[in-house]
Amino acid sequence: MKILIINGPNLNLLGVREKNIYGAKSYEDLLAFCRAVCEEEGAEVEFFQSNHEGAIVDAIQGALGRIDGIVINPAAYTHTSVAILDAIKAVSIPTVEVHLSDVSKREDFRRVSYVAPACIRSFIGLGFEGYREAVRALKEHLASNAR
Ligand code: DQA
Repeated sequence: MKILIINGPNLNLLGVREKNIYGAKSYEDLLAFCRAVCEEEGAEVEFFQSNHEGAIVDAIQGALGRIDGIVINPAAYTHTSVAILDAIKAVSIPTVEVHLSDVSKREDFRRVSYVAPACIRSFIGLGFEGYREAVRALKEHLASNAR
């Protein structure tokens, strides 16, 4: 099982940006957490972070034929990007959406997720643990589809 974990704009600034919302841990800490989770779950992992919508679309397209499952935190593009929604639909790779913060309890514009309809699950407001849940959900999904 090979998983691609994609993080969108400003998530490279974890530990610096709005610590009251996103916590004090850095993006490097998030990668270390995800690496440990994937090792525990027996998954190979690749990471991609970009502040650019088109680069995220390219990364999703580049997963075609190579990656079994995608974990994505599209960050602000969650609430605006038809292009990322279409890319997830286009590749038909099982994808799980993650948000560190509870977007349902913040500004109204964060309540809308353009990508959710293309995702098999969404984990919201669980901090780093949301990524663990996402990897596990992909593992279960892929195992049940292989049966
Ligand atoms: C976020 C929530 C988004 O609304 C925000 O734009 C982000 C991070 C989260 O992980 O909680 O940048 O996706």
